Amino acid sequence: MLLSLRDVSKSFASGTQALKGLTLDVGAGEFLSLVGPSGCGKSTALRLIAGLIAPDGGAVNFAGDKPETGFVFQEPTLMPWANALTNARLALDLEGVARGEAEARAAEALARAGLKGFEQAFPRELSGGMKMRVSIARAIAAKPKLLLMDEPFAALDEPARQALNDDLLTLWREDGMTIVFVTHSVYESAYLSTRVAVFSARPGRVVEEIALKPPAQRDERYRLTPEFAAAAGRISAALKAKP
Ligand SMILES: Nc1ncnc2c1ncn2[C@@H]1O[C@H](COP(=O)(O)OP(=O)(O)OP(=O)(O)O)[C@@H](O)[C@H]1O
Ligand SMILES: [Mg+2]
Repeated sequence: MLLSLRDVSKSFASGTQALKGLTLDVGAGEFLSLVGPSGCGKSTALRLIAGLIAPDGGAVNFAGDKPETGFVFQEPTLMPWANALTNARLALDLEGVARGEAEARAAEALARAGLKGFEQAFPRELSGGMKMRVSIARAIAAKPKLLLMDEPFAALDEPARQALNDDLLTLWREDGMTIVFVTHSVYESAYLSTRVAVFSARPGRVVEEIALKPPAQRDERYRLTPEFAAAAGRISAALKAKP
């Protein structure tokens, strides 16, 4: 077990209660997806795990020391005046890593994220998928144990999204990271996840957990199998159930 949320509640000053009774364990090395209706508190749950906000009630506990954590947002949030290498270096700069080492690690992260040769490119010169790759490179450059991703591929066309799905799975396997991934896509969660947590409508809590066993090495052929269809069907049914 890496971390657990126990009976977590969270309201905002506006009076909106985003989460109530949210209980969820995250195991080390999992690829856990969070799905649920819009506004049910998925982004709030990620921000609680990241420690960006604190719960009003309940607890967010880590099994050991809080792990090095990366965060990837839906928008790539790049600095428009800086090239890909400088953008990918940001977390390392903030950690005080020396410039030469930060550049080497950022260049390696860009290559692993599929952007070798684009180190000097500015965000305006990159496609949406490539900008997201820079954002992923920035997150993995710091070698996080835990990677939190909030609908990172929602704005991409389907081929770009599928390519990024496969490349993300490769990074997950190679680095042994734990990934918590928010998505609206049943098919994306079915393809990527070892487990899917389905949220209720606001105030959000987990109403169903679906364990999946996708093949370790998968590609587009997996999307055509009965196993994949069954996984997507289970997730879809849980989303439609109105508890
Ligand atoms: N900083 C905030 N201040 C006030 N209300 C907020 C804040 N952040 C989120 N909320 C509200 O809390 C609820 C949950 O928001 P959250 O962004 O976590 O939902 P979500 O599940 O990520 O939704 P979506 O799928 O649309 O991204 C929403 O009603 C939202 O308007
Ligand atoms: Mg959200």
